[in-house]
Amino acid sequence: MSGITIALAKGRLQDASLGLFAKAGITIPQDLLDSRRLLVQDTNSQYSFVFVKPGDVPVYVEYGVADAGICGRDVLLESAADVHEPLDLGIGYCRLVLASKPETAALGYNPLVAARVATKYPRVTADYFQRHGVPIELIGLSGSVELAAVLGLAHHIVDLVETGRTLRDNGLVVVDTIAESTARLIVNRASYHLKRVPVMALIKLLREAVKTVTRAEINLPEPAPAGDRIP
Ligand code: PRP
Repeated sequence: MSGITIALAKGRLQDASLGLFAKAGITIPQDLLDSRRLLVQDTNSQYSFVFVKPGDVPVYVEYGVADAGICGRDVLLESAADVHEPLDLGIGYCRLVLASKPETAALGYNPLVAARVATKYPRVTADYFQRHGVPIELIGLSGSVELAAVLGLAHHIVDLVETGRTLRDNGLVVVDTIAESTARLIVNRASYHLKRVPVMALIKLLREAVKTVTRAEINLPEPAPAGDRIP
């Protein structure tokens, strides 16, 4: 068993992360990937991998049960975990945006009434509106956040936009981009020192792999359509 355990985010980043490790010469046998096992070893038994929900990656790394992990900057902003972040991996580009129905966006904010904002990112959302001096009522959801604006549960949503399709298909527009996000390698603070040699070797391997990532793999954003932003 390797001394290095790596937490990978299941879902949208998983394939891109595994692709990056493959470029770095680190592969996981397909039968293990096809299984429901949550803890697996790479082909050369040098690294152990755990597959967890994206929001749990910083938790596993901060508490040191994983020495390193890969998750989006959006997740790190929300978690505020105390971890090292030595490498921007470039993959998995997306934006955290404020969005609403076009007619709601055109109205702007009423300073006397708290706007209802639905999101999976309560910390980022509260910070954003506090900086803008806008009172809000936060509605915490765990998925399909766009529906909240469509059905009138919330005036606005704060959510991820990758291709823009979910917003478009639900008749919502981007009001503001709150943050841009790409996948980051994070490392536990103690592991960074106590396992310095293997951790630095991993960082070096991934840094080289990142150089070979193509533009298509980075998932560069579509140009913003006209009227995407409300002045
Ligand atoms: C994410 C995000 C948006 C959607 C954006 O949801 O919360 O809903 O993807 O992607 P797009 O811009 O490419 O359309 P996810 O698929 O993770 O599921 P969820 O809504 O259940 O969180």
